[in-house]
Amino acid sequence: MSGDKADVVMFGPKPIIEDALEKAGFTVHRAFATPDQDAFISQIAPKVRAIAAVAGHGSVDSAVMSRFPNLEIVSSFGVGYDHIDAKWAGAHGIVVTNTPDVLNEEVADTALGLTLCTVRHLPQAEKYLRAGHWPKHGDYQLTPSLRDRTVGIVGMGRIGKAIARRFEAMKVPVVYHSRRPADVPYKHYPNILDMARDANLMVVITPGGAATKNLINAEVLKALGPEGILINVARGSVVDEQALIKALKDKTILAAGLDVFANEPQVPQELIEMENVVLLPHVGSASHATRRAMDELVANNIISWFSGKGALTPVPETPVKKP
Ligand code: 8YV
Repeated sequence: MSGDKADVVMFGPKPIIEDALEKAGFTVHRAFATPDQDAFISQIAPKVRAIAAVAGHGSVDSAVMSRFPNLEIVSSFGVGYDHIDAKWAGAHGIVVTNTPDVLNEEVADTALGLTLCTVRHLPQAEKYLRAGHWPKHGDYQLTPSLRDRTVGIVGMGRIGKAIARRFEAMKVPVVYHSRRPADVPYKHYPNILDMARDANLMVVITPGGAATKNLINAEVLKALGPEGILINVARGSVVDEQALIKALKDKTILAAGLDVFANEPQVPQELIEMENVVLLPHVGSASHATRRAMDELVANNIISWFSGKGALTPVPETPVKKP
């Protein structure tokens, strides 16, 4: 409603979002800071009209949203919103927003960095130097190369395109798999298995959720082959983690670089103990500048909505722009 300053609930701390909303006159209910969150929510529920959602602090499913009878908007942090039941929200007149675009280049940079680290063993080589092995044992071992590779990108959305541009600049041929062809000059594979057979580096940047669960399974890994390298900067759910562990152990594929895991922040001990993997704690977008831009977009979606200008970045399931 135009000119309104609504009550917003948050289930996880995010100081920049909290400050921006309070400065704009909103009342922020910090459910995360209350000893009995359930009782607190029951008490504030009737006046809450917005949720500012932070991934990693529980899913925002129908059970959560239906507790707030006057809920109008769920403004989520992150481009991925698999922790939110956007379909249910759409069917109940609630708009869901995410934070697209502001993180494209950052996540693409991370994907490239992780790829280079994995292919060229950069973290392992650095560890070798720090451990004092160089003067004692000589040069670090030779590594695989990007030079003889074709990259198959799984997902050709905004971040996928930013990743593809980087590989192009590095003279690595690009192909891709997505459900529908995108407006890009690269070869499209409607079938991921066919792409896995033709590529020997696979970079995953497709949304998580039911539609892509375990898309990268044992069969796909086998098709990627013994020289194959898998990089995942999307969601842990897209890769069958147990199948990946087995494929790395059996040398069905050569190596993997992972920024995301099935059960974050838990990482299987088997992966931690492996030499042929590079592991990052979900840092794809995690720079000061990009996280600030994401925080601001979360707050600005709520501010715009309640000033009557509509949501800035609604997700496709809830295409409503104006309240
Ligand atoms: C965040 C992400 O790290 O945007 C996404 O979908 O995965 C990352 O930018 C994530 O939201 C966890 O806070």
